[in-house]
Amino acid sequence: MKLWDKGGNTNKKIEEFTTGKDRELDTDLAAWDIAGTIAHITMLKKTELLSQSDYDQLIPELKTLYKRAVKGEFIIEEGVEDIHSQVEMLLTQKLGDIGKKVHSGRSRNDQVLLDLRLYTREEIKNITTLTKTFFNTLQQKSEKHKDDLLPGYTHLQVAMPSSFGLWFGAYAESLTDDMHLLYAAWTTANQNPLGTAAGYGSSFPLDRELTTKLLGFDEMSYNVIYAQMGRGKTERNVAMAIASIASTISKFAMDACLYMSQNFAFISLPDELTTGSSIMPHKKNPDIFELLRAKCNRLQALPQDIMMITSNLPSGYFRDLQLIKELYIPALKEIKSCIEIAEFGAKNIIVTKDIMKNPAYKYAFSVEEVNNRVIKGVPFREAYREVGKEIEKGEFKAPSNISHTHHGSIGNLCNKEISKKMDNILNQFSFNKMEKAINSLIT
Ligand code: ARG
Repeated sequence: MKLWDKGGNTNKKIEEFTTGKDRELDTDLAAWDIAGTIAHITMLKKTELLSQSDYDQLIPELKTLYKRAVKGEFIIEEGVEDIHSQVEMLLTQKLGDIGKKVHSGRSRNDQVLLDLRLYTREEIKNITTLTKTFFNTLQQKSEKHKDDLLPGYTHLQVAMPSSFGLWFGAYAESLTDDMHLLYAAWTTANQNPLGTAAGYGSSFPLDRELTTKLLGFDEMSYNVIYAQMGRGKTERNVAMAIASIASTISKFAMDACLYMSQNFAFISLPDELTTGSSIMPHKKNPDIFELLRAKCNRLQALPQDIMMITSNLPSGYFRDLQLIKELYIPALKEIKSCIEIAEFGAKNIIVTKDIMKNPAYKYAFSVEEVNNRVIKGVPFREAYREVGKEIEKGEFKAPSNISHTHHGSIGNLCNKEISKKMDNILNQFSFNKMEKAINSLIT
């Protein structure tokens, strides 16, 4: 079934090829497609393009379909081209000609654009919730292990003392910058494209301000051509934010793999989080972190993958854009599962005690010793040379106490300040407005 069916035949092969994975992917958009239609027909009724009695018959049907979609019970039947066709077909089966009226002043182009924006807003909300949980866990681990030292490295050579307080805390702060990018993506997504139709507007007096309000958007994508150009651009901006979160997780996972190696032995995992070998009976492998690393590395290619589809397209709708869904929808699922598993892994990391007692790390304290001498009045370059010579002769003695007090250092992690930074970013998202609007639309 195709909305554009005019009685002619389409080659079966072409039909299959052009539908592609839409039946499966559009199922994730079902609830949003229906909510968008409720907003659209509410506007049609107000502008007297739809009668009150048609509206009264359509609304309960749409609300029932919405409930089905939210429960995951909505399917796009075989032979039906996409979600937009399935919804209109169901309405028409139930209500006859009235069902055929919902598409006045609309095109599937602004319909899918809207579905993707509504879907994206919800997914951004879910991602921020998961990220905040991960952030909290990292901060708790940071506080708990603020006095547990480990060597810090540059060039993978022992450099200076670090701490698990710093290590866990660093990844928490990294997530704050990822949320900055996600907020930028949110502002792009949170603009109403409904009413732009095929990308050139409509001769109907569509009330776009009303649908903006009904759907809880902060803004409207005004220019009808530009609104269509937002297909792909919104996804790309979200992809940049996803890639940023993914880069935080993949670096964390790489550190964790390294630190779990027996040659480092800085951390371990409870047995039930490790995997074994079919041949080597002693093995307890960190597959969780390896898979997180690979999945998150792959996610970092998402912005490029999307750009490869969109970058040479002129303005106006093209079917090319359909393929973005094949990348975008699974990527959102993947990043959510990665954040969740990264949090679970982080929470369960067991920190090795007294790592710095190992003499292999004694030179990590060389700068402490230099600085102690500077405090006593020796010029820095002089102290540096003295300590260097002692190291060469094998006479260096590591100082027993270290004291780092400035902002963001071992002794002054500033986790509270970082947490405030995170809250300030997260408070900018207008999730409440979005939820309130959608709730009053569908209940
Ligand atoms: N499945 C299509 C997509 O994702 C829906 C829009 C179809 N529009 C069109 N003009 N053929 O892009």
